[in-house]
Amino acid sequence: MLQKLHELKEKALQALEMVSDSDELDGWRVGHLGRKSELNSILRNVGQLIPEERPAVGRLANQVKLALEVAYDDKAEALKRQELERALREQRSDVTLPGRPVSVGRLHLSTQTLREIYAIFGAMGFQVYESPDVETDELNFGLLNMPPHHPARDMWDTFWISDEVLLRTHTSPGQIRVMRERYPEPIRVILPGKCYRYEQITARSEHQFYQVEGLAVGHAITMTDLIGTLSEFARRFYGPDRRIRIRGSYFPFTEPSIEADMDCILCGGEGCRVCRYSGWLEVCGAGMVHPVVLRNGGYDPDEWSGFAFGFGVERPAMVKYSIDDIRLFYGNDLRFLRQF
Ligand code: PHE
Repeated sequence: MLQKLHELKEKALQALEMVSDSDELDGWRVGHLGRKSELNSILRNVGQLIPEERPAVGRLANQVKLALEVAYDDKAEALKRQELERALREQRSDVTLPGRPVSVGRLHLSTQTLREIYAIFGAMGFQVYESPDVETDELNFGLLNMPPHHPARDMWDTFWISDEVLLRTHTSPGQIRVMRERYPEPIRVILPGKCYRYEQITARSEHQFYQVEGLAVGHAITMTDLIGTLSEFARRFYGPDRRIRIRGSYFPFTEPSIEADMDCILCGGEGCRVCRYSGWLEVCGAGMVHPVVLRNGGYDPDEWSGFAFGFGVERPAMVKYSIDDIRLFYGNDLRFLRQF
C-alpha cells in the first residue's frame, strides 16, 4: 500500500508537468485530488486496514495529499503568470502611436471682450465690482430715482420674479450697492454683468446680454472727466483714431444725461451698412450722477459729485468683429465660438 501511494504521487506529479492550461489543471485536480480520486478512496478506507498498517498508510496518504495540493497551487500560480505574459505579448500596445487629442476649451467671446474692457479701465484706475443679477425693485428702479409708477420704468421691459424681486434690467443698481459699501471713500469702479429684458429676440436684441457700468464719485468730478474717460476707452478698445460725439439724453438717475457715439470704425464716418448710413455708432448712455441717487448711496450731493455710464458688451464685440447677429452669442454653435 505504501508503495502504491509513492507511485500514485509520482504519477500525479508527472501528469501535472504536462498540464498546460487552466482547464487541464482543473481536470488534474478532479482526477488526483477529487472525491472520486484514488488517493481519496485510500484515505477514506484507512479504517478498514489491519491495525498495524493504519498509522503508516494514514500518515503517508496525508503527506501525499498535502504534497499534491502544494504542487497544484504552484502550478496554478505559474499558469496564471504565463497567461498574463501571453496576453501582454498578444495585445502589445504601440507606444509610438500618437495620443488622442484632448479637446481644449476657450473663453467665450463675451468673456474675452469683458476681460479686454477690464484691462482698459483697470489701467485708468477703475476696480471691478460685481453685484447680483437678481435684484429688488427698489435697487433696480426706486433708489435710482424711479419710484413706483414713474413713467421712465417703461424704458426697461422687466422679468419679474415676484412683486418686489426681478432680474436686473441694467447694471445701474450696482451704483447704489457700491456707494453704500464705500462711503465715505471716493469711488472709481466698473460693474460688469448680465442684464435681462423681456424683449423680442432679434438680430439686434437679446433677452439677456452683458453690460458694463462705470461709476466715479469724488469731490470735483465733472462732465469733462466723463467725456475724457469715454474717449480714452474708445481709442484703446477700437484704435487710436476714434472720435466720440456727445448728444443730450435722458436717464432718471443722471443729470444732465448724455449719449455718446463714436465715428463708425468701418467707414470712418462716411456712412455704411454697419452704422446704418449715419456715420456714427452708439457707444453708451451716461451722465452726471443725479443728486437723489448720490444721496440714496449715502453721499451728500453738496459735497460730492460723480459720473456714471453704461454700455453693452456684445454690441462693441459685434462692431469689432463684424458680427451681424447678437443671437450667435447665445446659440452655443461651436462653429461660431471657435473663431475667437
Ligand atoms: N442703465 C442705463 C441703461 O441700461 C445706461 C446708463 C448707465 C445711463 C449709467 C446712464 C448712466 O440704459
